[in-house]
Amino acid sequence: MTKQRFFQCVCEHKNTRPVWFFRQAGRYLPEYRALRKKQHDFLKFCYTPEYCIEAVMQPIRRFDLDAAIVFSDILVIPDALGQPVWFEGGIGPRLQPLCAGNLTETLNAKRYVQHLQPVYDGVSGMVSALGTRPLIGFSGSPWTLACYMIEGRGSRDFFSARISALLDASFPDLIALLEEVIVEHLLRQIDAGARVVQLFDSWAGILSPRLFDLYVIRPTRRIVVALKKSRPKIPVMGFARGAGCKNMQFAEKTGIDVLTLDETVDRAFFLPTSQVDMVFQGNLDPVLLLGSRDVLQHEIERWKQDTIHQPWIYNLGHGVHKDTDPDQVQFMIDCLRK
Ligand code: CP3
Repeated sequence: MTKQRFFQCVCEHKNTRPVWFFRQAGRYLPEYRALRKKQHDFLKFCYTPEYCIEAVMQPIRRFDLDAAIVFSDILVIPDALGQPVWFEGGIGPRLQPLCAGNLTETLNAKRYVQHLQPVYDGVSGMVSALGTRPLIGFSGSPWTLACYMIEGRGSRDFFSARISALLDASFPDLIALLEEVIVEHLLRQIDAGARVVQLFDSWAGILSPRLFDLYVIRPTRRIVVALKKSRPKIPVMGFARGAGCKNMQFAEKTGIDVLTLDETVDRAFFLPTSQVDMVFQGNLDPVLLLGSRDVLQHEIERWKQDTIHQPWIYNLGHGVHKDTDPDQVQFMIDCLRK
């Protein structure tokens, strides 16, 4: 994978650096909030191709972004494996926690592809609606999915999941099962037309170096190897959120093509690696979108300057926050494209 080929792949319809955002579709858009009123159950919404296609197209129509990410959620995987998953307003995702000691016991790995068929149907529809604009497929990574599956809800430190990673003899079985399902889930999105895939390891940052190696780097590498074996031309983007300086090993050892950086990372640390054939993405603080335009503009200029010699996909360090004013997003895009 050369840097140039990647740019052709993500941004073939324009001659500028690609711009897109995590959670570019979602609650900060009034048109998304109106669409969500048609289906209050978020998982059912995710399994309705018509709604997901519309949600994907809303920010594209409004902002003319260079790429879109599949509208879905990482938690469709535990749901498809038969683990009860539901979303509670104001709390976020809830799951019935897996049984300690035999984490895979209640999971049914036979039905998931069929269960996720509406997601793949949605992907095909999104690809048609997007035309030449690339669609990014995605999955949660094994560790982050395991966090939610063991803890049963969002958490600041996922303490139960970390204890499980350390002590539960069945934890590696759960990771192995998830690797297999994630590869299949991504291959099906690719076959439905996704041109790039992104792995979200949103909770990678809470692991010690040893567990980071065992449960972030190694599973990611095995997933990347499996994907490259059958779809060698599809770029893989990796996001180990909160990994700080461990991002370097993450990039070098996993075989990913694009390293996504969260907003806490000092990009100066990565810029000397510009000799490496690596494309970077992200790093701009989503909170800036809720502050003053002067500061936002200043930070964007600094960022553009810093990354001038490095292939860099303009994106935030995490998703667009739900309280963001869409006009600020437009302002940011204008600054980026100037
Ligand atoms: O444009 C897009 O990015 C939309 C597609 C998308 C969603 N979730 C839709 C969504 C993607 C790529 C995700 C990934 C996702 N989901 C991650 C990894 C990225 C990250 O944020 O770290 C994680 C950890 C989840 C799990 C999840 N789903 C949580 C924690 C929540 C609650 C978030 C909150 O702010 O309440 C969700 C719900 C969710 N997923 C929403 C959307 C648009 C909001 C649900 C709604 O419409 O009510």
